[in-house]
Amino acid sequence: MTAIPATDFDRPAELLRHRLIDRLLADGRITTAAVEVAFRAVPRHAFVPETELEAAYADDTVKTKFDGEGICLSSLSAPWLQALMIEQAALQPGDGVLEIGSGGYQAALLAEVVTHTGRVVTLDIDPDITDRAAGCLERTGYDRVAVAMGDGETGYARDAPYAATIVCAQAYDIPPAWTEQLAPGGRLIVPLYLLGQRRTLTFVADGDRWIATNSIYSGFVDFQGPGGRAANSTRIRLGDNGATLTFVHGAPDQPYELAGALGHAAAQAWSGVLPGTPGYIGGLQMYLATRMTAVADCPRESLPHPEGVRAFAPVCTTGGNLGYLAVRGAGDHAELGAVAYGPQARQLAEDMATIIADWDRDVRGGPGMSIAVYPRDIADAQLPDGRVIDTTHRRILITWPDADTPQARSAVEA
Ligand SMILES: C[S@@+](CC[C@H](N)C(=O)[O-])C[C@H]1O[C@@H](n2cnc3c(N)ncnc32)[C@H](O)[C@@H]1O
Repeated sequence: MTAIPATDFDRPAELLRHRLIDRLLADGRITTAAVEVAFRAVPRHAFVPETELEAAYADDTVKTKFDGEGICLSSLSAPWLQALMIEQAALQPGDGVLEIGSGGYQAALLAEVVTHTGRVVTLDIDPDITDRAAGCLERTGYDRVAVAMGDGETGYARDAPYAATIVCAQAYDIPPAWTEQLAPGGRLIVPLYLLGQRRTLTFVADGDRWIATNSIYSGFVDFQGPGGRAANSTRIRLGDNGATLTFVHGAPDQPYELAGALGHAAAQAWSGVLPGTPGYIGGLQMYLATRMTAVADCPRESLPHPEGVRAFAPVCTTGGNLGYLAVRGAGDHAELGAVAYGPQARQLAEDMATIIADWDRDVRGGPGMSIAVYPRDIADAQLPDGRVIDTTHRRILITWPDADTPQARSAVEA
């Protein structure tokens, strides 16, 4: 159903498009013929007409709307991420699919995958975005995609059930509608915020819980409305230096104790563990966050740091102390450790360094984490051991299974 004819004007775009798709195939982002056909058919540049062709066909995000402070409110997601998410949806011709967060382009890709026998609904909270997406879809011949305006928090019941729901904004919870509106065997693909870390997860039902079967390291524009970040967080200002800690999904009992933390000298503890090549520490960041009881967000640039030390998330707190994951040195001489501030800073830094060593010894290179989402009313005693994140609607359990255990079979990349 490619609607735009290949005119002379379009030829450079086609060349760039096929080159991009060849790369997505070579990189293993596209793995099925149906998704390849969709990417080859849909003219991405027609959904960002104000953007240079090269930028439209770069394997990167194209930002389309900003707020007054320059924060991005909407974009076309990067092709590599769209490809992975659509592959995760495992759609068949004739399926119904809901996209929460519109741009038009990904909805058109989905329309190709489910073919003219399927149904695609794309839903966005912002009328500028739905108007824009509807216009682009119409001009490119994909006007059978239903464009709806509303808060994705409640899904879109009118066309449910869906074989898959793909959420395209950074979510802080899994509202009931997202799972209730799925058909049996349906898949929920959602970029979920977990203890300061962001992963796009694929969930499938397993009895009365949902288990993650895939994890992609990724970031999205924030979910707006009552399900968004502000409604789920507590902010604490640290003295006068401008640093602010944001606790999402719960805050320490006495957060005011933290206000003076940065007035203390820094304590450092080093683990002897190397970051590794090429230095991806996402798994460690997630592990460290799950081992600490209180984890906050804080912009890296606002954190003080000793000479030669770089600061990384997570920022962890105990009482009136805060500490962060740190790297000193570079290349083969880089080392992982922690820097902490507060009256018991040394203890906190040493505890974090011990956890880094535990990760290196017991977890690194292993099966990864298991994530299971339970109903909100399940009792602690009914949950397996692990780190529980209580959100408004769910209890999310993260565990780190040993290799060769049944749980390890459902582990995903951290
Ligand atoms: C990254 S863009 C979507 C990109 C799109 N899927 C594409 O074609 O690549 C994220 C969108 O989510 C929307 N959004 C944010 N919060 C939302 C909410 N509560 N309900 C529905 N849409 C929301 C934003 O307005 C924004 O347009």
